[in-house]
Amino acid sequence: MYVSHVALDDFRSYRQIVATLVPGVNVLSGPNGQGKTNFVEAISYLANLSSHRVGAESALVRANPDGTKANAAVIRLKVCQGERERILELEIVSSKPNRARINRTAVRPRELAYELKTVIFAPEDLQLVRAEPALRRKFLDEGVAAWRPTLSQLKTDYEKVLRQRGALLKDLKSGRADSYAQSTLEVWNGQLATLGAQLTIARENLVAQLLAPTQKAHNKIASQGREIFLAYQRQVDKTIAPEKEIEETRDLAQRLQAAMAQREREEIARGVNLIGPHRDDLEIKLDHLPVRGFASHGESWSVALALKLGLYEVLGGQSEDRSERPVLILDDVFAELDSYRRAALAEIISGAEQVLITTAEASELPESLDAHHISVRRDPQAGSIFLETETLPVDGPVEETKTEATGEQGSAS
Ligand SMILES: Nc1ncnc2c1ncn2[C@@H]1O[C@H](COP(=O)(O)OP(=O)(O)OP(=O)(O)O)[C@@H](O)[C@H]1O
Ligand SMILES: [Mg+2]
Repeated sequence: MYVSHVALDDFRSYRQIVATLVPGVNVLSGPNGQGKTNFVEAISYLANLSSHRVGAESALVRANPDGTKANAAVIRLKVCQGERERILELEIVSSKPNRARINRTAVRPRELAYELKTVIFAPEDLQLVRAEPALRRKFLDEGVAAWRPTLSQLKTDYEKVLRQRGALLKDLKSGRADSYAQSTLEVWNGQLATLGAQLTIARENLVAQLLAPTQKAHNKIASQGREIFLAYQRQVDKTIAPEKEIEETRDLAQRLQAAMAQREREEIARGVNLIGPHRDDLEIKLDHLPVRGFASHGESWSVALALKLGLYEVLGGQSEDRSERPVLILDDVFAELDSYRRAALAEIISGAEQVLITTAEASELPESLDAHHISVRRDPQAGSIFLETETLPVDGPVEETKTEATGEQGSAS
């Protein structure tokens, strides 16, 4: 699949833009701070309802220089998949639920994930291998939602129960809860255990799918011949025999519930949820050493990139039917890689149906990349705009033409 048109209203540094993209490689270049990442973030946000940069949606709505804010940001994409064309639309209103439409019909925002798949790799992803387990859980949960959109509600439901149970534990700790509230703890335990077990199994299934493509990508990018190993680490049953690991969700739910019963006093004394997949981790090793705390900067980059390329393949990156392949977004990636890894990455992405690359220095891209070039500039009045440099005359005067930047409002068709 590929995105043919993008219309943004009041999204980050974009006031209003309608831009055209092509299948194949699109390179967005321009000096720092012009709006390159903002543009690809919009596409990835619509597909994943999550930003690789911020947790708070309010940052996505355009702020004026005087500190006031636009009412809402709107992202509209025209997505082509074979003969099929769809207009996807997401409206982000600060501190209100998002609104989504497909072909102008209102849908739940998470349904957009069925229509557009993207995988983004950005400098922030280095944290994926270096930071606390929370980021790796987020990677897995977003991966599960993109891989099996029907499971995307699982994480939301789990977190809702977690919050409610957490509030109850705090009340019990402070003595505010009455005996009725105390008796509801068991009901929450049951719900948390069931959803927690489903979430765990979904993550484990994804990890099982990820392993081989991640190893393959890593073998191509990193030349040293070291192997990546991935293992989902459950908080409960750490000592379980390997052959028992693929067990029924029901059994895991029982184990989670037993663990809660065992630590009930401690949970109440501390007023926090101590048991469940919100405490799990994805263990990543290079040969026998954990990446976190051991791998070098460059090694960590290769591992993080391999994980994302692994996810790209799981989502259909090598699919026979090219229109099934996700849109691959590489935000500021090439500058970090040495020439060997740049060439390897260029080869890997050559099979993608659409790749969006952002770079401050287009000269850092491998020459072998046959790309559509767009240069991004920021104007004090108009916000970020696109200059379609590819259409400039080669030897005439270089007069930058502002194409489509002020196109018809609200239409990506
Ligand atoms: N909500 C917002 N409203 C207005 N401007 C914003 C908003 N969010 C971010 N910006 C501005 O967008 C600019 C950053 O844009 P972006 O991250 O896309 O830059 P970039 O072109 O990718 O630069 P680099 O090459 O440094 O990565 C910053 O100047 C920032 O102030
Ligand atoms: Mg950037």
